[in-house]
Amino acid sequence: MADRVDVGIVGCGGIFQWAHLQKGYVYIPEARITALVDVNEKTLADAERTLKKAYEKRIAELKEAGDTDTAALFADDLKRIRTYNDMAKMLDEAEPAAVDVCTMPDSHMPIAVKALNAGCHVMCEKPMARTWIDTLPLLDAVRKSGKHFQQNENWIWQPGWYSMRKVVDGGMIGDVIAAYLSAAHGGPEGKAAFWDPFKQGGGAMPDMAIHALTTAWFVVGFEKKPVAIQAAAPVGVARRFRKRIVAGGFRDIEAEDDSHFMVRYEDPDSLRWATTMIEGSWSYRDAPDTMVVGSAGTAAFGKDEEGHEYIEVKGANDSRRIPVSGPTWEEYPAGGYYGEIRDFVRGVREGRAPMVDAGVGSEAQAVVGAAFMSQANGMRPVEMREFKDHARQLMEEHGDKASDVLIEEGLLGLR
Ligand SMILES: NC(=O)c1ccc[n+]([C@@H]2O[C@H](COP(=O)([O-])OP(=O)(O)OC[C@H]3O[C@@H](n4cnc5c(N)ncnc54)[C@H](O)[C@@H]3O)[C@@H](O)[C@H]2O)c1
Repeated sequence: MADRVDVGIVGCGGIFQWAHLQKGYVYIPEARITALVDVNEKTLADAERTLKKAYEKRIAELKEAGDTDTAALFADDLKRIRTYNDMAKMLDEAEPAAVDVCTMPDSHMPIAVKALNAGCHVMCEKPMARTWIDTLPLLDAVRKSGKHFQQNENWIWQPGWYSMRKVVDGGMIGDVIAAYLSAAHGGPEGKAAFWDPFKQGGGAMPDMAIHALTTAWFVVGFEKKPVAIQAAAPVGVARRFRKRIVAGGFRDIEAEDDSHFMVRYEDPDSLRWATTMIEGSWSYRDAPDTMVVGSAGTAAFGKDEEGHEYIEVKGANDSRRIPVSGPTWEEYPAGGYYGEIRDFVRGVREGRAPMVDAGVGSEAQAVVGAAFMSQANGMRPVEMREFKDHARQLMEEHGDKASDVLIEEGLLGLR
């Protein structure tokens, strides 16, 4: 196969092994993993084993289906993959065309900047960095390098959200007025690093709300820009279940485990706007069901007796069910992760702009920052401009420490 994209993976833990690898790369022959990098020897060895098993399983499936060419391609790849505990050495020796950044958020920016400066295209896990301040050097490196940079948000490649966007884009509910989106579960107690606000830039907001707010933005249209943010009653941005079993024992949590906030998106040219209500939670869901409200009707997800997902579009006097479907004209084996990785690889090959670019990733971080600021200021609305002016002032006053100061301020303001 011509023009395969050689990929170096940096960070080979959870998201790489169970999602990118097993739900993505093994189905995408246009991508060729040539190198694995992890600073943890055990994780690196685990990842190498998991990778071998996953490709061997896929090779057997391909042979069974009669696709011996792809099976032979993957078998050959397996012989060539090299492992590293140092990214610089990997960039030097493996010379990948692209780097897939799968580490925790505190290292996304420095790793992505290094990769871009080395001439690689980059795909980066969410959130783009710990804070908006940390996204700025990355934005700069993307602009200067001219390389393809995709901020991963797997939800927008999921058939449900893809179909919702079609409903909105197709004018089925008129102009979008508002959307309710929630990303919630009981908490990642199994992973101590997620509870360290200085690793992530907070807790449930950079981890969970980022999915909901980026996807909400996709639904209302990326041509609109986030302009104002307000922590929303009654919960706001809060620590709710304050003692958690993390790293083997009950501890007081530092970061927020729940967040509810509104975002106003406005198109600077047409002045069209929409409001979204976002929940990002590690203390279960309490937001209303997902719904997109338009000037002519509403759209919400449902499931029929056989488990098929649909979108119910309700007007004043009628309702219809739109079946949820991915791009049904081609194989779509595992939803969002498959979609985001293949779109990245195809985008690199075709020189096509990414759907979620560095600008979206950076603004999404600013929304999180403004939600912290709103909470700290008695839940009053905060304009994006105001948040950014404040962050820039911190950069002037604190230099390299500005991002940490911003995180500290956010924590001090929590309910
Ligand atoms: N989209 C999703 O649904 C989803 C789900 C889970 C995690 N994530 C995101 O994926 C990222 C990683 O999460 P995870 O659960 O895989 O974490 P993890 O801790 O399991 O894996 C991260 C790995 O990166 C390695 N690492 C750290 N610094 C490194 C460096 N400088 N060079 C090389 N390796 C380094 C660590 O040793 C670790 O093995 C996070 O940003 C998280 O938010 C996304």
